[in-house]
Amino acid sequence: MAEPYYITTAIAYPNGKPHIGHAYEAIAADVIARFQRQQGRDVRFQTGTDEHGLKMAQKARELGVTPSQLCDEMSQYFIDMCDTLHVSYDVFQRTTAPRHHAASQELWRRMAANGDLYLDRYEGWYSVRDEAYYEASEVVEGEGGIKLSPQGTPVEWTVEESWFFRLSRYQDKLLALLRDQPGFLQPESRRNEVIRFIEGGLRDLSVSRTSFDWGVKVPESHNHVMYVWVDALTNYLTGLGFPEDTTEMAKFWPADLHLIGKDIVRFHAVYWPAFLMSAGLPLPKCVFGHGFLLHRGEKMSKSLGNVVDPLELVARFGVDSLRYFLMREVSFGQDGSYSAEAIVTRCNAELANSFGNLAQRVLSQIFKNLDGRLPEQGELTELDNELGRSLHQAMHGTVPEAMAGLNFSVAIEEWMSQVFACNQFVDSQAPWALKKQGELARMETVLAVLFQCIRNLAIAIRPIIPTSADKLLDQMGIPVGERDQAALLDATWYARLTASGFRLGQPVGVFPRLELPVTAEH
Ligand code: MSP
Repeated sequence: MAEPYYITTAIAYPNGKPHIGHAYEAIAADVIARFQRQQGRDVRFQTGTDEHGLKMAQKARELGVTPSQLCDEMSQYFIDMCDTLHVSYDVFQRTTAPRHHAASQELWRRMAANGDLYLDRYEGWYSVRDEAYYEASEVVEGEGGIKLSPQGTPVEWTVEESWFFRLSRYQDKLLALLRDQPGFLQPESRRNEVIRFIEGGLRDLSVSRTSFDWGVKVPESHNHVMYVWVDALTNYLTGLGFPEDTTEMAKFWPADLHLIGKDIVRFHAVYWPAFLMSAGLPLPKCVFGHGFLLHRGEKMSKSLGNVVDPLELVARFGVDSLRYFLMREVSFGQDGSYSAEAIVTRCNAELANSFGNLAQRVLSQIFKNLDGRLPEQGELTELDNELGRSLHQAMHGTVPEAMAGLNFSVAIEEWMSQVFACNQFVDSQAPWALKKQGELARMETVLAVLFQCIRNLAIAIRPIIPTSADKLLDQMGIPVGERDQAALLDATWYARLTASGFRLGQPVGVFPRLELPVTAEH
């Protein structure tokens, strides 16, 4: 039976339309999900929207709608974004769903049963933008004496009755988790940051609010709603059917990977494992805090007017160009920058001119010279074998290893170097010249070797650019069920495809050259 793999993204606040940062995370998670499926894993992929809390309530008031109207309208944009980006999620979990309320209340009851919740009064700083409490020592003074969180968001002094979670009890266990299980929080720099935060001392956490009611009601304490992060984190369980004893819970919990941005690592690597320990549930295997996407090196903000709708980029450049660019350009884990010029330059150089050109050259020669009949592979030369070995080594070693380690840019670089090797091989073997010289058998062998290389390259890059890779593989007659890692190891496929009598049609390019509009704003 296939080994399960459960991956989640953060659930976004739908208080505005999705931006490129949301698209980036969704794409990265999708690449991992598709890669793991290709590896034969039984993947469960969950994303969603985080719909409670003061931020959402305030936004609704500002717009003159009810919070639930706002959520219904805005969460649809996130669903549409995922669909447009070809994000292959299995579950889109909204936190306003009744079953999510039930799941959050059950987690609460279990934490209460463990003696970890008590009623007191909260007095301290709160940032609505971050939906986060801050210590007095973390608050800094901004322009005009305004108080700011370390993230630069305004904080307000808050005093209210609140339930508290005994986070301080978990200090030692959390430190042990982070120190002894280096894989739990990645990359390394984020781990060090969190270790320092815990070492600084953990105070009990305010986990309910009484000054507004847009949230999950606290069981038996109905003037309280849960602190939005308590219910938000629970979404990872809700989607599996918790608290029911579902087969999904048994199969997919604990999660293999929570993919999140670096700004919310504290919630996932400190609060979440503490809640789970308290409730007696197993901890996720890995939390990965990716970097931020910047626009031309600058933070995106409404005031700078550089917030880009990812769907506009898709409309301009195509979905696979955007996916390829984001995974190729940014070293995953670090911040990265994007611009329209960079997308055009990168995709034209690597997809259109290198891989696209390779496929187009080879397939059109097969189409023209052999009337679409697949070339026969005769005796291989040392050079042919060398190309095969190098490709094999990349497709079974460096590429999947880098993908499994979430080093997408490295995986693509390794893949690109094989594309270069194939293009060099075309140039040096010059099948068109072989034709002219009447060396038809050698021409067929060269084209056969290349056809096989192109198929393997297309399979390997499928998690990143699924639609284009599939368009190419469709033209090449590769069955849908033979596009995974196992298919790369199959030594008989070419003989089978040839024997099936498959004929190549006139090849159609799948990587159009991108143009930059004359007045490029972005
Ligand atoms: N609702 C919380 C997450 C709760 S998870 C239980 C939240 N929402 S968010 O809408 O602000 O962010 C959603 C995700 O997008 C987060 O992982 C965040 O780090 C990520 N990003 C937001 N802006 C980003 C960039 N500019 N670049 C990359 N990712 C960014 O936080």
